[in-house]
Amino acid sequence: CSHFVLLDTTSVLGELGWKTYPINGWDAITEMDEHNRPIHTFQVCNVMEPNQNNWLRSNWISRQAAQKIYVELRFTLRDCNSIPWVSGTCKETFNLFYHETDEAHSVKFKPQQYTKIDTIAADESFTQMDLGDRILKLNTEVREVGPMTRKGFYLAFQDIGACIALVSVRIYYKKCPFTLRNLASFPDTVPRVDSSSLVEVRGACIDHAEERDTPKLFCGADGDWLVPLGRCVCSIAYEEIDGSCTACHPGFYKAYAGNIRCSKCPPHSFSYGEGAAICHCETGFFRAESDPPTMACTRPPSPPRNLMFNLNDTCLMLEWSHPSDTGGRRDLTYNVQCKRCGPEPDQCQFCEEELRFLPRPLGLTDATVTIMDFSAHANYTFEIESLNGVSDISSFPRQVAIITVSTDQGGPSLVGSLKKDWASPNSIALSWQQPEQTTMLILDYEIKYYEKEHEQLSYSSTRTKAPSVIISGLKPATWYVFCVRTRSPAGYSSYTPKYEYKTTGDSSDIASDQGQVLVIVTAAVGGFTLLVILTLFLLITGRCQWYFKAKMTSEEKRTNYQNGHGPFPGIKTYVDPDTYEDPTQAIHEFTKEIDPSRIRIERVIGAGEFGEVCSGRLRTPGKKEIAVAIKTLKGGYVERQRRDFLREASIMGQFDHPNIIRLEGVVTKRPLGVPGPHFENHWLCCVCVFAGRPVMIVVEYVENGSLDSFLRQHDGHFTVIQLVGMLRGIASGMKYLSDMGYVHRDLAARNILVNSNLVCKVSDFGLSRVLEDDPEAAYTTTGGKIPIRWTAPEAISYRKFSSASDAWSYGIVMWEVMSYGERPYWEMSNQDVILSIEEGYRLPAPMGCPVALHQLMLHCWQKERSHRPKFTDVVTFLDKLIRNPSSLLPLVEDIQSLPESPGEEMDYPMFISIGDWLDSIKMTQYKSNFMAAGYNTLDSVARMNIEDVRRIGVELIGHQRRITSSVQTLRLQLLHEQEKGFHV
Ligand code: ADE
Repeated sequence: CSHFVLLDTTSVLGELGWKTYPINGWDAITEMDEHNRPIHTFQVCNVMEPNQNNWLRSNWISRQAAQKIYVELRFTLRDCNSIPWVSGTCKETFNLFYHETDEAHSVKFKPQQYTKIDTIAADESFTQMDLGDRILKLNTEVREVGPMTRKGFYLAFQDIGACIALVSVRIYYKKCPFTLRNLASFPDTVPRVDSSSLVEVRGACIDHAEERDTPKLFCGADGDWLVPLGRCVCSIAYEEIDGSCTACHPGFYKAYAGNIRCSKCPPHSFSYGEGAAICHCETGFFRAESDPPTMACTRPPSPPRNLMFNLNDTCLMLEWSHPSDTGGRRDLTYNVQCKRCGPEPDQCQFCEEELRFLPRPLGLTDATVTIMDFSAHANYTFEIESLNGVSDISSFPRQVAIITVSTDQGGPSLVGSLKKDWASPNSIALSWQQPEQTTMLILDYEIKYYEKEHEQLSYSSTRTKAPSVIISGLKPATWYVFCVRTRSPAGYSSYTPKYEYKTTGDSSDIASDQGQVLVIVTAAVGGFTLLVILTLFLLITGRCQWYFKAKMTSEEKRTNYQNGHGPFPGIKTYVDPDTYEDPTQAIHEFTKEIDPSRIRIERVIGAGEFGEVCSGRLRTPGKKEIAVAIKTLKGGYVERQRRDFLREASIMGQFDHPNIIRLEGVVTKRPLGVPGPHFENHWLCCVCVFAGRPVMIVVEYVENGSLDSFLRQHDGHFTVIQLVGMLRGIASGMKYLSDMGYVHRDLAARNILVNSNLVCKVSDFGLSRVLEDDPEAAYTTTGGKIPIRWTAPEAISYRKFSSASDAWSYGIVMWEVMSYGERPYWEMSNQDVILSIEEGYRLPAPMGCPVALHQLMLHCWQKERSHRPKFTDVVTFLDKLIRNPSSLLPLVEDIQSLPESPGEEMDYPMFISIGDWLDSIKMTQYKSNFMAAGYNTLDSVARMNIEDVRRIGVELIGHQRRITSSVQTLRLQLLHEQEKGFHV
């Protein structure tokens, strides 16, 4: 509960001990109720005697944390008319006072120390006849007192001759109660006394939760928590269940903090205890370092299968099949190990170094490898091992596939070394010795060579019959590797070891550089020529139409609009003055020039960006003089300022609607033959008269000025119907603008003017200039200047302004109106406003706001702009509310104040059966009463009044009230249901 009680006389068991002065004034009466609990009542009824001054003073009451207190009095009051002979002496009010002190007084009561809170009158007084019927009409009145600064206070009641029984006094203060939101806890918080400012409270994450975005709530003046921002999330190993973070059950885990549930352990893993962040692998299964916790545990693969070799003159190719068990992973690779063995099995040596493996010996991804440079007379044993990402972790012995290959195919080995005879930049000459004891015919020699830097990638070979060769076509200054083998009828010998020789490097480098330069120049010239040809081609074939389009004259653009190519064909559409090359032409077209001698300036009423705003009179021959407002452009302006200033007039001049400020005309020319200043009171207002040409915009005078300050000055003064009437006018003006294709972009109460009949007029036109002028407009990250609190999210994020974004702003204006000029989102920062809107928060209904209007606001604040109402829908809807005022009776707080009412704030459920409806207001016990009386449809219930509710047997007054109040809501909802195509 948001009320914290400091005193409740109905729950004080002993004596109250309140003092009365004089002693024969107020009377303290204590009776016992049926539960033997005392009922403390104070009575006074000296209605026959004049000049009564009877005081009743409470004990000292500690203020505790309260800054503002509420005093709720329940009392009965006798109607003076029902008592004979008391007309001069009987009163029907009493006075409520308080006095703040830091401690209880022991000194005498001094009424002059007390400050008056209010005069209390009864809503209902009772008569002699009521007494006969034993009906006592109980009144409940609540008063606010604050700010309180001392440690405590006394209350005092002054009677001046009324007949009163004070039945109970309850004193409480409001606080936002301890709450848990978004996994954060927020302490009891006392609101600020100033009802327009909120207390920002940071939440603390609950156990086993951690902060994501700083959790915040704002404590409102009525003890309601508003605008939840940010949140906490459950830590690793914990998941959110019913608003708290609970440890994962055995067999489950949660590896990351966040609002995700615990997951079942992946295959081949387990968790025994509660609260596992990760599941452990079963024996024989592993998790690689880079494996995510969500992945199954895996094991090393089985060995490769079906290992085979294929040997020819130069290559030995090994091939195998993939293992039957990959271990549950995809990162399978193979390593090849070579052993060269002598006659005895233990005479083996590793031989990878001697051989060349293509592509490589380790980390193979294909099930094949090619081996070269092997000796002709050798036994090689190859072991192929399959591996995956967990092979290194596993301690199991490696399993390999083994094959032995004999390369003994004959052919004499080359003896003697290979030597370089000479080298040039592109050639190397080599020679070698013939094999010494050769019995076999040598057919030829094969010389293999490759660039040292690109070893393994590719090689070249050449043959020669002589024991020497000149290898040409080489790169200058480059190292090459060479080896040679013999070919005999028995096959190839093994290769000689590798020899490395370098070509020389010289002038050919330069030649090749020049070659490159030439290539680049040729390519550039060719590219440019191609570009020229392509451009000519596009021009000729008309593909450059966009270029010519951009040059379309503004005249054409305007004609397009006026011919009905604007938003609504056939309807007059707005023409943007910026489409005129010469802005003066727009002024001529849309405004009337006024001779300044027809204007009389009277006083300054405000200041605009360009100069003062004055009020005055305008004379028009043959017409009644009218009151006007004159916007002026101050002296020393530059041409650009003059153009921007008059731009607003060119826009306004196109509109003609009772809810749009009317332009009377402009003054842009100095009257002929009038040399100097020519206005009465000109010194008050227009600097412009003296310097340069006078420039003014003359509009109708709107008596009550801007809507926001007007509402603030008249807080609580209007009926709901009057407020809805104002909103209807604004919506009608906006419908007119949107039908014309004009988007306002700065619709806000400060830009609406109110006349003496409460007719609202949309003003402040001029798009970008308006925003420059608007103190509410702030720069966004994209550089635009935007009034954040009034602007739709898509317009803030990517400047998508439309009539739908105006509808969003209209919803904010509704909120401003219903809260009598409260600042939207109070003093939250612009950043917090953007964030909260993004998170789905919307402004709550202002105090006393009918449900129907708050629902319309929420409709205007739909994220998806196509779901927002059109202004024509808004006008129709408000018209219906005005024609059917009972639809405005259910207030949002009526619905929200139901104890444990279902749904969150702003959630008014649509009921489907009488049972559901009664359940939702905790009145299920009356279901049979409704049924027995024949109320079996919601429609029939919606027509019930309080008498009907009594008649069906609901006896308790509180229950009658609760049911009747909900019936009104129901009626409204059914009414909305009937609104075709406009469900709220
Ligand atoms: N303030 C700005 N324009 C006004 C107008 N037209 N009437 C009254 N006050 C204004």
